[in-house]
Amino acid sequence: MSSSLNIIPAPVSADRGSGSFTLSKSTAIALDRDRDLVKVLADYLKKQIESFFNIRLENSPRVNRDDRENVILLALEENKPGHTPEEYQLEVNEKRATIRAYNEAGLFYGIQTLIQLAEPDGADGFKIPGVFIEDRPRFDWRGMHLDVSRHFFDTNEIKKYIDLLALHKMNIFHWHLTDDQGWRVEIKKYPQLTDIGAWRIDKHGVKYGGFYTQEDIREIVAYAASRFVTVVPEIDIPGHTSAALAACPDYSCTGGSFEVPNRWGVFEDVLCPGKDETFVFVENVLSEICELFPGEYSHVGGDECPTVRWKKCPHCLARIKNERLCDENELQGYFMKRVEKILTARNKKMIGWDEILQSGLPRSAAVMAWRDTKYGLEAARTGHRVVMCPMSHCYFDFYQAKENEPRAIGGFLPLAKVYEFEPVPKGLNETESRRILGGQGNVWTEYMPVFKHVEYMAVPRLCALAEKLWSPGGKNDFENFIQRLEHHYRRLDRLSVNYRRY
Ligand code: ACM
Ligand code: ZN
Repeated sequence: MSSSLNIIPAPVSADRGSGSFTLSKSTAIALDRDRDLVKVLADYLKKQIESFFNIRLENSPRVNRDDRENVILLALEENKPGHTPEEYQLEVNEKRATIRAYNEAGLFYGIQTLIQLAEPDGADGFKIPGVFIEDRPRFDWRGMHLDVSRHFFDTNEIKKYIDLLALHKMNIFHWHLTDDQGWRVEIKKYPQLTDIGAWRIDKHGVKYGGFYTQEDIREIVAYAASRFVTVVPEIDIPGHTSAALAACPDYSCTGGSFEVPNRWGVFEDVLCPGKDETFVFVENVLSEICELFPGEYSHVGGDECPTVRWKKCPHCLARIKNERLCDENELQGYFMKRVEKILTARNKKMIGWDEILQSGLPRSAAVMAWRDTKYGLEAARTGHRVVMCPMSHCYFDFYQAKENEPRAIGGFLPLAKVYEFEPVPKGLNETESRRILGGQGNVWTEYMPVFKHVEYMAVPRLCALAEKLWSPGGKNDFENFIQRLEHHYRRLDRLSVNYRRY
């Protein structure tokens, strides 16, 4: 991993050349292929140059591979075996900057590096140092999660979050759309989910809430796709469903009635796996979700589901008996298996929190290890794909320092600790290690009422995590990371990010 240049995440290798390239308004963007997606990327680069450096390029991007000077060239090469989809090379000399890649994602990441390399030069220009960079990610799953249930963030804020991911070459946005305190996605079949479930009365008696229409969702999914970010939606079931039950009490064990709670915690009323109607409801909801989100994975929660209601519910007791389950604990396994079938029938892979790892979970289901890496280890050993996001290193709702921090949920996760994160636990063989897809940072928003606060909690811990997920493993030079972060703050300033300064 090369870290002499101030790039975050650090590239695989970087060699300094001589001289530098001057970025000015007369710089041209050229592309060597007349492909729509490359043209879109050229326009994106043009806009990035404008927003980062306040330089308006005079010429529109052109399809042209001539050897003129003062050009940024986007070169899309034929894909050959041995190249990974997201890799790129960046070569900068006095005459030109060339980004070479084997697909558009690689070009996109080359653009991110190029933007990060530019440093102010005098009053009116920016210089990009002469370099030859070869780069590719260590992991496929480089994610950030955001809880929009405890507090709601509008589509512009979500786009800013996605831009932050893209700047750090992260590629998964795990959108936690439902929880006890609010259901945030329009479902056409059940309008009450958002008419009722998206709103709560806060402690001051004021109505609080909001939701995304299906049109909003499509807009965000497209925005993310144009930044090579896949949105993984989460519909958290069977627990964390108070808001859904306030809207649709029939799918509970007791029949209700319920309100959307305005306090945090784990609630005892959850979906009733004893009733067949519950599965019809789940299937209807998930089929709209699968239509809206084109990604490979659909997240269905599975965390923190109390079984107290199931123990006494006649429907649940009958289910346990008829399905020959040992007890109510096995009901969760039964529930998850049925959900997995619903998703598989729609060509989606199920992913859930590590509590789903019980009672014969199908191998095709992926596991998100949050309580401890040991659950990820166990899942990988038993054939599941795994995303690592243990509380110990990846919960960005925890305190960042021991003193003078705004109120947080608890815990303690300073930047240096994030930088110690290693997604592949010791004790896995090579085949099992390959099942570790990567990792992600989780941002639960109980104590983050506004988006500025989300930024404060996420950044720069996100920067440290991005490096752990992109850059080659093994090196752990936190001092060097901090030095690069000093330069990175200026980029974050240009984007008006409310980061926490270390
Ligand atoms: C979780 O933090 N409940 C997944
Ligand atoms: Zn029940």
